[in-house]
Amino acid sequence: MEIHRVVFSDPAVCHFYCTNTRTEQETREWLIHRKWQVRNEDELGFLAVVRKEDNQIMGLVALQLLVAYWLRLADAPETPFHPLIVELSYAIGQAYQRQGYATEACQAVIEYGFKEMGLSRLTNGVVPENVASSRLCARLGFHQAPNLHPEGTGHVWILDNTMLDTQ
Ligand SMILES: CC(C)(COP(=O)(O)OP(=O)(O)OC[C@H]1O[C@@H](n2cnc3c(N)ncnc32)[C@H](O)[C@@H]1OP(=O)(O)O)[C@@H](O)C(=O)NCCC(=O)NCCS
Repeated sequence: MEIHRVVFSDPAVCHFYCTNTRTEQETREWLIHRKWQVRNEDELGFLAVVRKEDNQIMGLVALQLLVAYWLRLADAPETPFHPLIVELSYAIGQAYQRQGYATEACQAVIEYGFKEMGLSRLTNGVVPENVASSRLCARLGFHQAPNLHPEGTGHVWILDNTMLDTQ
C-alpha cells in the first residue's frame, strides 16, 4: 500500500505524526478505524495528497474531530466538559517534502472547511521541536495561542474563520 510505504513505514515521517512506524496491516486497520469513527461526518476525515501529473500518493491531510482533553484556551469559557475541536493534521513522505505540497494540500482543505463546512476554527497541536510543522502552520496563517491546560504542551496553533465575521 503506497500510503504505508511513503508515510507509515518511515520513522522520520512518523516521529512527530504518530510516534512509531506501523506495519502495513496496522496502517490498513487504522485507516478503516478512522473512517468508521467519522462515519456520520462524511466531510471530515483523511484525504490522500496525490500529485496530478502521475497520480503519485505523497502523503495525507485530514480534518479530525477530537475531544481535546488536553486543551484549555483563554477565549473559551471553563466548563466541566472537554472541548470539541477540529484539528488539521498532515504528513508528507520524505521524497516529496519541501516542495510546497503540504502548503497546497492544507490550503485546499482549509478553504473547504471554512467555506463549505462553515467551521469556525481549526487547531493544531505541534511540539516546538517540529520546526517543519510549525513553519507550515505559520505559513498557513495560524497563530499561536497559550494552552492553559496543565497537561498541554504550552501553546496550540489556531486559525479562525474570518469569513464568519462578515456574514
Ligand atoms: C510538516 C510537513 C507536512 C511539511 O510538509 P512539506 O510538504 O515539506 O511542507 P511545505 O513544502 O509546504 O513547506 C511548508 C513550510 O515548512 C518549511 N519546512 C518544511 N520542511 C522543513 C524542515 N525540515 N525544516 C524547516 N522548515 C521546513 C518550509 O520551508 C515552509 O516554510 P516557509 O514558508 O517558512 O519557507 C512534513 O515535514 C511532514 O510530513 N513531517 C512529518 C509529519 C508531521 O510532522 N506532521 C505534523 C504533526 S503536528
